[in-house]
Amino acid sequence: MKALVLSGGAGTRLRPITHTSAKQLVPVANKAVLFYGLESIAEAGITDVGMIVGDTAAEIEEAVGDGSQFGLKITYIPQERPLGLAHAVLIARDYLGDDDFVMYLGDNFIVGGITDLVDEFRGNRPDAQILLTRVADPRAFGVAELDPSGQVIGLEEKPDRPKSDLALVGVYLFTPLIHEAVRAIEPSWRGELEITHAIQHLIDSRADVRSTVITGYWKDTGNVGDMLEVNRMVLEGMDRRIDGDVDTASETIGRVVVEEGARIVNSRIVGPAVIGSGTVITNSYVGPFTSIAENCRITDSEVEFSIVLRDSSIQGVGRIEASLIGRHVEVTPAPSVPSAHRFVLGDHSKVQITS
Ligand code: TTP
Repeated sequence: MKALVLSGGAGTRLRPITHTSAKQLVPVANKAVLFYGLESIAEAGITDVGMIVGDTAAEIEEAVGDGSQFGLKITYIPQERPLGLAHAVLIARDYLGDDDFVMYLGDNFIVGGITDLVDEFRGNRPDAQILLTRVADPRAFGVAELDPSGQVIGLEEKPDRPKSDLALVGVYLFTPLIHEAVRAIEPSWRGELEITHAIQHLIDSRADVRSTVITGYWKDTGNVGDMLEVNRMVLEGMDRRIDGDVDTASETIGRVVVEEGARIVNSRIVGPAVIGSGTVITNSYVGPFTSIAENCRITDSEVEFSIVLRDSSIQGVGRIEASLIGRHVEVTPAPSVPSAHRFVLGDHSKVQITS
């Protein structure tokens, strides 16, 4: 069995972060979202992974390499444009050959891994198996309709009137039958080859498509709110570990990780929180559910419920919360006179100002 991991895509919902970097590499508790997925694939006993990459191919390849750090063998499959999840299957045909495979969306986060699911699939070997979870508002998802035995009888992409509250999770198990289905379908109104259409095609041709409803936590980390939420969840499961320097004027409370090479000076860190190596926190407060990556400087500031990526500095700006801050960012107070705002803002930035 192989895995097909999708790490291309546009990532429009995470702009401007994704103008410059891959959304699958945004860190959760200082580890790329994608790495959690790759670890769970390795845990399930799969070693051969085809990785779909798009515009951010170079960055993904630099971070993941040949996969040996995860015990995996990675083959990169370039996708010229994000033409849909079923398109990714189409272009991976030669790589996948006649093997069964698990398709994993690189920006999805599933607690508890996929080992049970993969074992169940290997045991029963239906034609395809999808993962579902109950959501409050299914209209933003692919939604499944099941018969009383749990057999999938219909799938709809982002329906106005959902037939159930069961949303598709970004992990799918397929036999080679899916290759016929992705060749048979047409692009949707949004110009993409939809995997829901390909699975619907399997259902229409009386294939055995089963589902598993997961009870564990799942999130598509496509937007900032979800990203912060997953970060909160992962941090909550961490143990306290202080490997860096904390001076006597500082306090670390609860589940705090201070990596080796980090320094906490005259500051208060309230967990769960993680401070990456090379980062220096001075005269500041870091509150719960915050991940500060490597080589940052936080000075005379307060940061809570946020993710700060590496090499950024926050200085003298009071309180920051519920924020996702990219790499090499500088946040400083504006000079009070003259009272004008000075910006260098990327395309599609959103800025809130009190004036
Ligand atoms: P999506 O979140 O559906 O799409 P996107 O990455 O284009 O993001 P946005 O909606 O913010 O513009 O993609 C799910 C995952 O699959 C994600 O990791 C990107 C990847 N993907 C591909 O590799 N190829 C594709 O053609 C598509 C549509 C997605």
